[in-house]
Amino acid sequence: MPIDNGSMLHHDESGGGQPVVLLHGFPLTLEMWRHQIEALSATHHVIAPDLAGFGGSGPASDPVSMESYARDVAELLDSLDVLRQVALVGFSMGGYVALAFLGLFPERVGALALIDTKATADGPAAKAGRADAAAHVLEQGSSFIAEAMIGKLLSPGSLADRPNLVSELVASMSAQPPRSVAQALGAMAVRADTTPLLAAVGVPTVVVGGAEDVIVTPEEMGTMASAIPGAEYVEIPGAGHLTPMEAPDAVSEALARWLNRMTD
Ligand code: MLT
Repeated sequence: MPIDNGSMLHHDESGGGQPVVLLHGFPLTLEMWRHQIEALSATHHVIAPDLAGFGGSGPASDPVSMESYARDVAELLDSLDVLRQVALVGFSMGGYVALAFLGLFPERVGALALIDTKATADGPAAKAGRADAAAHVLEQGSSFIAEAMIGKLLSPGSLADRPNLVSELVASMSAQPPRSVAQALGAMAVRADTTPLLAAVGVPTVVVGGAEDVIVTPEEMGTMASAIPGAEYVEIPGAGHLTPMEAPDAVSEALARWLNRMTD
């Protein structure tokens, strides 16, 4: 069950053994991991925070960056006495945070899973789009971003066949504080290109992506995977961007195989 503990990040902690940390995407919460939390906590100590400003976590202090989110996660691990290496899983914006965490605390990462994410930074058009979206969110509320994103988060098949998932996601995204959404948009726009880190990744790595992801294309994910020594690339047919919710079993199975590699 999620617990709340002062200024520490709100999080879900379950299971025991080797720690696995799940970092959610934008503008989502740890709820996106519910299937993986259930599957992986049978064998592992699973920790899933709400990043600062999202879900049940308190607001982030400016300036917000992928590094500030990563430092919050490190503080959470310290406060939970998780001092051994973690298997770090990042989805989309959570992947940007995972790569920032790897840059800041390489000694704390024993395995890396990058899901529907990329190492490259935003170009000028993407940066301008983020600034525009942030202004609209601050004026109109977070339903603006929910409406803008829902059609890109899921594959056409999921959009047509899973109305409950669509309405759950729209409600959740609309409920995130506009200031937090705007802060995250600004932080993503200025995030560093972490491509130079990839060749030096020395831990078991899996890259998982939806075959129909239009936010991070399979081509971008394949390119990232091939830049990481020994990384496995798993492409999930029929899934869009939000693979952990659209294809929960396939994602959990890919993660379970990757976790086995960590102990081989
Ligand atoms: C996410 O799913 O976290 C975002 O789409 C990432 C992004 O906008 O770059």
